[in-house]
Amino acid sequence: MAEDILIHGVTKEEKYQSLIPQITALIEGEADNIANMANICAALKFGLDFFWVGFYLVKGEQLVLGPFQGPVACTRINLGKGVCGTSWKNNQIIIVDDVDQFPGHIACSSLSKSEIVLPLYNIKKEIIGVLDVDSEKYATFDTVDEKYLMQILQLLKL
Ligand code: SME
Repeated sequence: MAEDILIHGVTKEEKYQSLIPQITALIEGEADNIANMANICAALKFGLDFFWVGFYLVKGEQLVLGPFQGPVACTRINLGKGVCGTSWKNNQIIIVDDVDQFPGHIACSSLSKSEIVLPLYNIKKEIIGVLDVDSEKYATFDTVDEKYLMQILQLLKL
């Protein structure tokens, strides 16, 4: 039975450190990747109070919206477009302190002010999607988020 996420700690790093064992427990023994992605989104959204957390999955020449938590979002993103499509094309983590300063940023919500996007890899190290996390505040994301979000993505067996 799924339990509530209980966050301990004051700093962002301490909160991530309290969250990861709970995410590990949530997805251990669950083989379905969509279910696990859905629970990762819920744990991050409610555990760390992010504005929007979601996966976009590679389908042909586009990223297609997958499991997410937050306001409704655009469903398809072309390679190289927006922060997500650029992360996919360049195979890189992108941290955006002010989305209005990112050329071609796709604004699914005008409330989103900063963003981090990480590539999602399968066991063969092929990019099969991205994780997109948005904040209503400027400059929310840094190397701490990069470190722990990468750890969380590595819990998925893709
Ligand atoms: N901002 C993203 C699009 C996804 S919505 O934020 C959920 C981008 O520029 O790729």
